[in-house]
Amino acid sequence: MKFIADRLLLFGATGDLAKRMLLPSLCALDADDLIDPKLEIVGTARSDFDDQGFRNFAREALEKFLPPERRGSVATFLNRLSYQSLDATQIEGFEQLAAKVGTPERGLAIFLSTAPSLFEPTIRGLRHGGLAGETVRMCLEKPLGTDLASSRVINDAVGTAFPEDRIFRIDHYLGKETVQNLLALRFANIMFEPLWNAAHIDHVQITVAETVGLEGRVGFYDDAGALRDMVQNHMLQLLSLVAMEPPSSFDATAVRDEKVKVLRSLRLVDAGETVTGQYRAGAIAGQAVPGYDDELGKDSNTETFVAIKAHIDNWRWKGVPFYLRTGKRLPKRTTEIIVQFRQVPHSIFAGKGARTKPNRLVIGVQPDENITLSLMAKVPGLDRGGIRLREVPLDIAMANAFAGTQKRIAYERLLLDLIEGDQTLFVRRDEVEAQWDWIDAVRASWTDQGLEPKPYTAGSWGPSAAIALAERDGVTWHE
Ligand code: BG6
Repeated sequence: MKFIADRLLLFGATGDLAKRMLLPSLCALDADDLIDPKLEIVGTARSDFDDQGFRNFAREALEKFLPPERRGSVATFLNRLSYQSLDATQIEGFEQLAAKVGTPERGLAIFLSTAPSLFEPTIRGLRHGGLAGETVRMCLEKPLGTDLASSRVINDAVGTAFPEDRIFRIDHYLGKETVQNLLALRFANIMFEPLWNAAHIDHVQITVAETVGLEGRVGFYDDAGALRDMVQNHMLQLLSLVAMEPPSSFDATAVRDEKVKVLRSLRLVDAGETVTGQYRAGAIAGQAVPGYDDELGKDSNTETFVAIKAHIDNWRWKGVPFYLRTGKRLPKRTTEIIVQFRQVPHSIFAGKGARTKPNRLVIGVQPDENITLSLMAKVPGLDRGGIRLREVPLDIAMANAFAGTQKRIAYERLLLDLIEGDQTLFVRRDEVEAQWDWIDAVRASWTDQGLEPKPYTAGSWGPSAAIALAERDGVTWHE
């Protein structure tokens, strides 16, 4: 049912995500008059706050995480907020919560960002409190399980109270502007699609590199590791957007139908096609940083780096490897997608001593949003000693091309879509399950092989085996 929610209920309202992302995003939307003046936001968590206590908490978060020029009238925003403390394991508490939420005029959007163990009791409580009717939508934040089986348990539990068209699963990478721009690049230009296949593309690389380490997320990260934390969701979503067939329209069903086909076409990885690593003490930007075990305070076998050579078994991508790598404590923060085209079939310049290099498209997702296409050009001159060709970039820096437009936090977009009920940039259940299916198989292959993470120095590009994974195919990671 299409409705614009006029009530938003945030579970985990005093948590890290609320502090860093959700409250700042909502305040920024408010400052730009993008949310209904009537929208009321109710926060809930275990913490024992009253309304004023929560508003103070929110004010501090905004001061820390939202630049002053984006805050608008903080007082007006804070007035939207109220708070109800809740122990989600105690069903009676949901009656009080429902009373606090009241009766929205149009509808309620619920954002669930809590420990996975609280999902089931929360859903039960919401039903008990009458907070699961037709005009309620449910947004779920990761982690949604640790494997296919546990993700099914969560999805089944949520499914008892909400049908799929009212469930919004977040992958915040889909809220990033350049990620959406990938679709514009592919499907709003004629020149890429005819070349976007195995006949013309040699391989694809997707790198999501971070400089941060554990960031205090001791309990969560050590149980997850890089494969579950980054590859299962963000990297597979990027891969599916690069590889999918053109959807018939930019709507939730058409786009997600195409993505899920890609995810289901992922081939099970062979032994030797993945490398895992864990960082040791080193330095990032000249600053000494401790090793993972030291940050964690105990020995651990969790991977903080993973590189995978993936294959998509369909007509379009037959024989085109997708090299994926992600890691913590790498030399720089960068997310990029590299599409490496093939050589021209025949070089007419070879007899004149010139060498051609294959074209390459680099899509920079962050920190800077840019698109660079490398082209061969003739070096100016009279060519008496032979023709010289050189690679030159055709460069679009989005910040310059769209100077003056507001750069937004990914959650601004996603929260607004949730309030308005557009599921296009949210992950459907069949996608999540296809992602877990493949990830579980990767993990199983690690267990079979007895694969242990290889050490790498913080500030390096991961274990040397990751470099070898690409090099043995004659591929160099783009850096
Ligand atoms: C989260 C992961 O989903 O994404 C974190 O749990 C990671 O470990 C983060 O740091 C990266 O997001 P971004 O937007 O900073 O690239």
